[in-house]
Amino acid sequence: MCGIVGAIQRNGGVVETLLQGLRLLEYRGYDSAGVAVLEAGAIKIRRKAGRLERLEQVLSDGSLDNARAGIGHTRWATHGPPSDENAHPHTDQEGRVALVHNGVVENWAELRAELEAAGVRFASDTDTEVLAHLVGREMARGQDLASAVRASLARVRGYYAIAAVAQGEQGVRIVCARSGPPLAVAAGPDGVYLASDVLALIAHTRDVIFLEDGDVAELELGHAPIVTRIDGTRVDRPTRRVEWDPEQAGKGSFPHFMLKEIHEQPDVLARTAFDRLRLDKGDVDFGVPGFTDHELRAVDRLQIVACGTALHAGWIARYLIEGLARLPVDVDYASEFRYRDPVLAHNTLALAISQSGETADTLAALRLAKTLGARTAAICNVVGSTLVREAQATILTHAGPEIGVASTKAFVAQVVAAFLFAVRLGRARGVLSLERGRELVSELRLLRPKMESLLGERAVSEVRAIAQKNQGQKGFLFLGRGINYPIALEGALKLKEISYVHAEGYPAGEMKHGPIALIEPAMSILVVNSAGPLAEKVRSNLEQVRARGGHVIAIGSDKESIAQSDEHVLVPECSEWLSPILNVIPLQLVAYHMADLKGFDIDKPRNLAKSVTVE
Ligand code: G6P
Repeated sequence: MCGIVGAIQRNGGVVETLLQGLRLLEYRGYDSAGVAVLEAGAIKIRRKAGRLERLEQVLSDGSLDNARAGIGHTRWATHGPPSDENAHPHTDQEGRVALVHNGVVENWAELRAELEAAGVRFASDTDTEVLAHLVGREMARGQDLASAVRASLARVRGYYAIAAVAQGEQGVRIVCARSGPPLAVAAGPDGVYLASDVLALIAHTRDVIFLEDGDVAELELGHAPIVTRIDGTRVDRPTRRVEWDPEQAGKGSFPHFMLKEIHEQPDVLARTAFDRLRLDKGDVDFGVPGFTDHELRAVDRLQIVACGTALHAGWIARYLIEGLARLPVDVDYASEFRYRDPVLAHNTLALAISQSGETADTLAALRLAKTLGARTAAICNVVGSTLVREAQATILTHAGPEIGVASTKAFVAQVVAAFLFAVRLGRARGVLSLERGRELVSELRLLRPKMESLLGERAVSEVRAIAQKNQGQKGFLFLGRGINYPIALEGALKLKEISYVHAEGYPAGEMKHGPIALIEPAMSILVVNSAGPLAEKVRSNLEQVRARGGHVIAIGSDKESIAQSDEHVLVPECSEWLSPILNVIPLQLVAYHMADLKGFDIDKPRNLAKSVTVE
């Protein structure tokens, strides 16, 4: 989805700052980019369809190098195709104001008709341009930029994060606002900044203010950001410290963020879990309110909502929580839950799982659950995100910034968090004994070297050989059962997201009811099977595939499946409850290497966005 940045700097060079910010937001998915800067009070705009490099090329003439203030944007087209004209920033007819926008103005057609009737000529197909004209019109009536933005936003239906600059304003100022998509602002020693993601701020300062829906902020050099509501009332928003290290936002020595993030997973396990484990008590301490025995005993049912990869973590959470804590769990696509007029049982805890904490459907589903009387909780990776601010209790995952669009380490962190939650729930409800709690907690501690062994050179080259051998296959079926069924779903999702091949995840036991018709030698069947009570059942499913000439790739710790397969990755043994965390690693690597062999843009797959802040 679109990304926005803005900066006013003491010492000039704002174009480079804007470009650096936009590079860090590239992961969000985009098809064009642009900047507007103020030079001697005049607005100068450069914008280009296509990759950021095209904009960089245009800017490399140095013509804007002295500018000290500006805004920038990466656009993910919603209204009008990706073109230079539709790229942001947009201006009003007189060029008084330049504006960038992430989101959708739902009543844009109505507003456009009104403006056109008043003689305004539009230069693009975008909904955003409506906003630029509205703000420009208010300024022509004598309002300053902040009041003009507030008055214009009062007329808008929809969701937005915007930033605007105006020509010739006394004292250079940027005004930004949010309602829906995320936006954070910060004042550092050398300037003031805004961005859709704190990643683009931490190079300047780690102390940031997350705007709330309905906030409008004014940024001016040498001042703390002034935050008001749309009606002009002043509000105080706390400054929060973001502990992410700016280096984490780089690729290091890895060719792609995705590969780096896959390799970070053993550390992510440690960061998310180890400080929270209480070995002596066979328990977990989250160190935040919402997870006491008393609070958890009041929960009779859990409703999980999430999207994409986070939903797969939600399916695993269901197996863990029902299995270890004996609490009934429902899991739903957030986009389905929010529109199916759901019925929630009394004493339901609604749990949203999300890497970004900004996914529109997930937020809407959690809000709905709240209005239906549920208590709310979140598993989330981003401090200060909307989800974290809205949920009544949060388990933060400590995956660090995830840039690759295909989620990997955030998923592992979510599964680890779900495991911790299951243990805590089991202990609180008195269904998990001290001894069993201790065993589970110790097993989690032992997982790190096993994860590392799957990332060693030998293991990785085995996976690359599998990717190589199978890259010409017609299709891929991923099979798993029990707690590894969601891993089959996740393996298939990863492969289709970045390798653009058809892949489907299925419960192995359900294969005979349809997908079995697809099996032939040109079809690769990846069977996830780890030692455990269902291993034998999966083996017989595997035999059914072989009997029909399917090409079988076995992944897991079940040695008999490995012996029955054409190709395999042997995964170290561990408790069945933790096996998804190991089994997903070879599947992530298969997807990565296949995409790499095909020469695709791994970190920015076509049509996908990292954080889907619109419906
Ligand atoms: C998008 C991303 C996925 C992600 C999903 C949910 O589709 O491409 O990788 O799993 O959104 O995102 P969230 O931030 O809520 O986990």
